[in-house]
Amino acid sequence: MAMQTGLIFHPYMRPDRTARQTFEWGVQSSIAADKAGFDSMMISEHASQIWENIPAPELIMAAAALQTERIKFAPMAHILPHHNPTKLAMTVGWLSQILEGRYFMGIGAGAYPLASYMHGIKEEDQNTEHLNEMVRESLDIMEKIWKREPFFYEGKYWDAGFPKEEVALTEEDEQHKLANYSPWGGSFPEFAVTGFSPNSPSMKLAGERNFKPVSIFSGKDALKRHWDIYSEANIKAGFTPDRSRHAVSQTVFVGETDAEAKREVMEGPIGYCFTRYLIPIWRRFGMMDGFARDFGIDPLKADLEFLVDKVFVVGSPDTVVDKINTLFDEVGGWGTLQIESHDYYDAPEPWFRSLELAASEVAPRISLPTTTAKAA
Ligand SMILES: Cc1cc2nc3c(=O)[nH]c(=O)nc-3n(C[C@H](O)[C@H](O)[C@H](O)COP(=O)(O)O)c2cc1C
Repeated sequence: MAMQTGLIFHPYMRPDRTARQTFEWGVQSSIAADKAGFDSMMISEHASQIWENIPAPELIMAAAALQTERIKFAPMAHILPHHNPTKLAMTVGWLSQILEGRYFMGIGAGAYPLASYMHGIKEEDQNTEHLNEMVRESLDIMEKIWKREPFFYEGKYWDAGFPKEEVALTEEDEQHKLANYSPWGGSFPEFAVTGFSPNSPSMKLAGERNFKPVSIFSGKDALKRHWDIYSEANIKAGFTPDRSRHAVSQTVFVGETDAEAKREVMEGPIGYCFTRYLIPIWRRFGMMDGFARDFGIDPLKADLEFLVDKVFVVGSPDTVVDKINTLFDEVGGWGTLQIESHDYYDAPEPWFRSLELAASEVAPRISLPTTTAKAA
């Protein structure tokens, strides 16, 4: 089985983009990824960030539903503490029906304090344990709503219920049956959980419930740790961890030659975004420390060129295959190369070509790691 390809759309738009441009770029990117043979596209949800300016990822998926054929979509992630669970369960169920099953559901606890604040979560409650408790309650409610069995639940954060449906005895009764907004096919969608911090509670949740783990690449140690946390919880809950379900998001650019690919990343939209937005954020969230440790350098010396040469996966198809295989040897491997999207709205050709090369020239040459059931 070959590695799968996914696009993750945060979408790192230049802050002067209009909502219309961002939306259009989202729909165009989903059509291009579908045509290139990508397996999935994940779209972020952010309330506060001007570089990550999509508050409602489901709108792009709905717009792309009729213009794409095989690619699967996922919000990555719906931030559960920011939603009413019943409303979200119905939106998700309906969208999964519109996409006729080309849908899986990414969930997260939330990364940005200002976004949590806007949703009524005070600063002192914004620690990852508290947010994860909200995630768990929200999940329980959504699953009950999708089951369509009568309940009323009074929770710590939300109340919700599902009414008992009376048997329809007359033709008039038939007109008042409950609409069905449960996911396509009547079963729950596959869930995916985002993990970020080294001691990730989200990876533990993913393991316990056998959800798909999705990590941001933040250094080899953190990634190994994510897999260990996930697989330990997964085995404890009676499942067999499968590395091919793990998706890892990374900065990837495939060009015709190494030199062309490096120049494109250094001088194009990716370099522009890293210099202004992501490098400062990575320093703040400690991600630079992980990369610097991997290569034994001072984190303050980790600049864009270091990232392009050592951390990102950039080069010709042969180089990119080599880089991924080396990482797989060192870290254990994963199933989906989740490529971070960037703002090529003005001139998409090099970006779309890179996606084509990733799907046609890179992914088929990477063998997936075999399933490992690491003893707990
Ligand atoms: C691949 C990926 C995508 C994410 N997308 C979002 C997002 O769209 N919106 C958001 O607020 N946080 C996002 N996050 C952050 C999560 O909401 C959350 O803060 C983080 O995964 C918590 O991880 P932890 O349990 O490892 O500390 C994302 C994280 C990852 C790894």
